[in-house]
Amino acid sequence: MTATDRDEIAPLIETVGIGKSYGGVVALRDVSMLVNSGQVACVLGDNGAGKSTLIKILAGVHQHDSGELRIEGEPRRLSSPRESLDLGIATVYQDLAVVPLMSVWRNFVLGSEPVKRFGPLELLDRRQAQAIARKGLADMGIDIPDLEQPVGTLSGGQRQCVAIARAVHYGAKVLILDEPTAALGVKQAGVVLRYVVQARDRGLGVVLITHNPHHAYPVGDRFLLLKRGATLGNYEKSEIDLTELTRQMSGGAELEALQHELDRVT
Ligand SMILES: Nc1ncnc2c1ncn2[C@@H]1O[C@H](COP(=O)(O)OP(=O)(O)OP(=O)(O)O)[C@@H](O)[C@H]1O
Ligand SMILES: [Mg+2]
Repeated sequence: MTATDRDEIAPLIETVGIGKSYGGVVALRDVSMLVNSGQVACVLGDNGAGKSTLIKILAGVHQHDSGELRIEGEPRRLSSPRESLDLGIATVYQDLAVVPLMSVWRNFVLGSEPVKRFGPLELLDRRQAQAIARKGLADMGIDIPDLEQPVGTLSGGQRQCVAIARAVHYGAKVLILDEPTAALGVKQAGVVLRYVVQARDRGLGVVLITHNPHHAYPVGDRFLLLKRGATLGNYEKSEIDLTELTRQMSGGAELEALQHELDRVT
């Protein structure tokens, strides 16, 4: 197989039987997932299921201690968030990585600031930074009238949208969103999901973490269900419908098994 062949067929991210413990706590056990370009891979599960742990391994915050992480076909062990970002993986955390008192445009260019040179001096090019932010948001159709507004004063949904536009603008291949709709009302959640779809349509691989099958199902191509660190199910969309996904999420299968046991003994 040549390098070109591998590029063509390798998924953006693949985890093979990945595991992670924190001291004595097994947070993740033997989890396999796929993230493809132009698809949304959903990770579902209850509190403590291991969702954030899984994406922190992809984001270079933690390292797996078993199994294999492959990025575009190459086995990797990411030692820092910078390394993950340099490989094209942009992560938006549950508690957003924004500086609340900084303006929208300043946050947008954070870490990639355009500079003006005056001899040996480098200064932030404010005008260009504002233009970059304005264009990045406009490209995604995101309307934030005042870019001087501190990010902390945006709604939760707007903040997620800015973070998504930023990842798209800076050329991420993979966009990881940890519970982007958790704190949002129905309407705002809908808006955020629309931008998830836009990022997907631009060819990014999106990893969407959520508790809510009603948010995952309409936009998802694949569904990984976690429970206490283990895989409860791993489906392509054609293999499962919303009713079944919801049933599995709410422990319906367990209840049925329990009922079956009760029927046997009574
Ligand atoms: N830094 C840590 N140190 C020790 N244990 C941890 C750490 N981070 C997570 N855990 C444990 O690992 C397990 C999985 O946690 P994780 O945060 O991945 O779950 P989650 O699915 O993201 O939950 P939530 O829906 O509440 O965000 C939990 O039992 C948690 O207590
Ligand atoms: Mg979490």
